[in-house]
Amino acid sequence: VAAPLTDTFGRRHNYLRISLTERCNLRCFYCMPSEGVELSPKPSLLSDDEIFRIARLFVRNGVTKIRLTGGEPTVRKGLVDLVGERALARLNTLRVYGLKAIGMTSNGLVLHRYLPALVESGLTHVNISLDTLNPFTFEIMTRRRGHDAVLRSLEEAIKSEGLKSVKVNVVVIQGLNDQEVLDFVEMTRDRKLSIRFIEYMPFTGNKWDKSKMLSSAQLLERIVSRYPRTTKLVDEDNDTARSYHIPGFRGSFGFISSMSDHFCGSCNRLRLTADGKIKVCLFGPEEVSLRDLLRSGADNTTLLETVRKAVRGKKEKHAGMEDIDVITNRPMILIGACTRSS
Ligand code: GTP
Ligand code: 5AD
Ligand code: SF4
Repeated sequence: VAAPLTDTFGRRHNYLRISLTERCNLRCFYCMPSEGVELSPKPSLLSDDEIFRIARLFVRNGVTKIRLTGGEPTVRKGLVDLVGERALARLNTLRVYGLKAIGMTSNGLVLHRYLPALVESGLTHVNISLDTLNPFTFEIMTRRRGHDAVLRSLEEAIKSEGLKSVKVNVVVIQGLNDQEVLDFVEMTRDRKLSIRFIEYMPFTGNKWDKSKMLSSAQLLERIVSRYPRTTKLVDEDNDTARSYHIPGFRGSFGFISSMSDHFCGSCNRLRLTADGKIKVCLFGPEEVSLRDLLRSGADNTTLLETVRKAVRGKKEKHAGMEDIDVITNRPMILIGACTRSS
């Protein structure tokens, strides 16, 4: 059995986030600069075969969970034929090497169209980005229409029997959607889903400003004053969110506190960007191209050594207020945060 992908702080990396595309059908202001981002030319992007080969290498070296991100993963061309019925089904064959979960983070705009095919091909976890329950606020935050379609994807994901979990990502911004926090909590009364309130993080060109960021502690206080019976749940080791539950409610809610209380100590993630670079941390500019190696004919041993070296170079932490001034990074859309990857 191969040695796990361990860094110098003893963190084992068993979670790979793969960005399928840099493109997105929304324009969330916190993710993309208003002028848009310069997209890599098509030949620079990984092909389905290249993605599969890299994914297999990671799974054979200890990765048990893959999350497909973007940009918006559902806008990758041929998603249903290629990713849905072939590429995803192909990734699903990696279960023989220990892959246990395949997730997708999507903005939900067209996800409802593909969901049955994706689940059939092995998709197990879906996270949908939905920052507001108000269609007008949706247009302001995403600079596009489509609130109905996102709600539809969410309801279909909740109904889908093949999915092991459905989570909703809410980036909370002072003065825009922060008054909706209790409405989101209310959604967990009758629905088996998990709402995650995310602290607004700074990325190149995303208009971040400390005064627009609400900390998880502030939000929890508001929630507890409305729901005094709020109870802490036990989190799994590598969870990004600290989760809570209201007795009697079907779902739960939690906080992703990347800014006020980072979780770098238990980080188990690596990222593969759509243009084939490994990023060992969401923050931080370090990137190593596997694409170039792959295309120059490198064998698996060389690829793996490159990955291990990148992992060994991973810093102890990046997230958190103290690093803000030194963050130079791709815009979120190009990291594969979300649907665009995190
Ligand atoms: P699960 O697999 O369900 O735990 O998903 P996730 O929370 O890792 O991923 P998702 O794509 O839903 O991202 C939600 C949010 O998690 C993003 O907005 C980020 O704020 C945060 N996040 C995800 N990965 C990282 C990471 O490696 N570092 C930091 N600081 N935040 C991350
Ligand atoms: N701060 C916090 N979360 C962000 N996301 C995108 N940009 C930011 C940001 N600046 C979120 C998206 C998506 C998740 C993967 O990342 O809303 O749900
Ligand atoms: Fe919004 Fe995600 Fe698209 Fe960025 S990638 S614009 S956060 S939907």
